[in-house]
Amino acid sequence: MGWGDLGVFGEPSKETPNLDRMASEGILFPDFYTANPLCSPSRASLLTGRLPIRNGFYTTNAHARNAYTPQEIVGGIPDSEVLLPELLKKAGYINKIIGKWHLGHRNKYHPLNRGFDEWFGSPNCHFGPYDNKERPNIPVYRDWEMIGRYYEDIYINHKTGESNLTQIYLQEATTFIYKYGISKQPFFMYWAIDATHAPVYASSRFLGTSRRGLYGDAVREIDFSIGQILEFLKNMGIAKNTFVFFTSDNGAALISAPHQGGSNSPFLCGKQTTFEGGMRVPGIAWWPGQLAAGQVSYQLGNVMDLFTTSLALAGLEPPADRQIDGIDLSPVILEGKEVERPIFYYRGNELMAVRLGPYKAHYWTWSNSWQELSQGINFCPGQNITGVTTHDQVEYIKPLLFHLGRDPGEKYPIRPSSAEYQNVMLGISPVVRQHKDTMIPGEPQLNVCDLAVMNWSPPGCKKLGKCLTPPESQPWKCVWPH
Ligand SMILES: *[C@@H]1O[C@H](CO)[C@@H](O)[C@H](O)[C@H]1NC(C)=O
Repeated sequence: MGWGDLGVFGEPSKETPNLDRMASEGILFPDFYTANPLCSPSRASLLTGRLPIRNGFYTTNAHARNAYTPQEIVGGIPDSEVLLPELLKKAGYINKIIGKWHLGHRNKYHPLNRGFDEWFGSPNCHFGPYDNKERPNIPVYRDWEMIGRYYEDIYINHKTGESNLTQIYLQEATTFIYKYGISKQPFFMYWAIDATHAPVYASSRFLGTSRRGLYGDAVREIDFSIGQILEFLKNMGIAKNTFVFFTSDNGAALISAPHQGGSNSPFLCGKQTTFEGGMRVPGIAWWPGQLAAGQVSYQLGNVMDLFTTSLALAGLEPPADRQIDGIDLSPVILEGKEVERPIFYYRGNELMAVRLGPYKAHYWTWSNSWQELSQGINFCPGQNITGVTTHDQVEYIKPLLFHLGRDPGEKYPIRPSSAEYQNVMLGISPVVRQHKDTMIPGEPQLNVCDLAVMNWSPPGCKKLGKCLTPPESQPWKCVWPH
């Protein structure tokens, strides 16, 4: 979902009354970011509080991701990473993930091996695994057992776009909240739903109801579901004890627009890019009675902060033996403070851009490779941004600098000869240097199964496909691949 998909951020059809109300009852963060322009690295960062380059969810060739193959990822969240639910468990929390995991398919990566007590959802994205008919065929699991697949028409009817999956995820959420709300057990619910990823879908109640088409139907259904969850917390009388945060894992995918992708409003480009449209996302904090309603915070926030903030609210410390990139937002949320901090924009292992205050310096602008463009892949359709431009590798090309307050669309680079440029870069350059000098990258997980780029596939890749696309004769009898 994109920043521009919410009425509260100016989406003209105003079809998100519940999220808009959530903002009016809570705090709106217009300067909130994902840790990466792509879903699984962002999710890895949310749960570890660390940049993808540290937690392993990166490629070594500056690609957002490498593998477009059925197996997609054979790596996963390394054992050495400490996940939010693993820590919350120590404070007596029950942890549930509902929706997309996407942090590895193998047994050792299973969410129930990584701190979650319950799981209902899919192991990965809609990219695959594809069956031989080139259609998404994503398994859905309850804990260790596969209970069905998206396609096969029990979840998605690709002719009509009808699917009850978001409704099923809503039902899972309220059942979970009811169970632990009644028993007064502290819980962490990670409602990591699959929508609005393409292929987009909605249940019959929402199909055809949006002015924006099928994508808008899906947004309306998410909006409705979040309204239901918040209402449910209120009705159970536990809203005052429950901190809720809404965000997205990357900007809207313009490559999927107009029918399958959303809006990043004034921001340039979308998912897969390190322009604002790829990484600036909606952020709304909600906690009735605890935070002052109807505020806007211009704090630069990041999904990694949800790790640190959640620990702080649960009375826990983040691990001290590693670099944590998330900051504790509780002083921001509870006392209206603002903390200066940089935002780092990565593609794979490459630090593409840095934001400090209102300024953003691009060291490398690359939205599509020529190869991608020649295959018709364009992450910035309608924009005149193509190919590769390096800003630090060629001596006479200086970093592109934008002021995101007066130029949110990154259209008017500040002249390198100006005093403003030179002053701002005096502040940004040492931050970048320090970040690069002290960076210790984790072991890369996203290019292990890279048939397209490396023309090589480790044996494990083949094995994975066996279970994720089981024989047609017994499609439901699949268990998690060991
Ligand atoms: C969604 O649920 C309704 C009501 O139970 C059912 O009639 C419909 O077939 C379901 N749709 C799909 C695509 O499974």
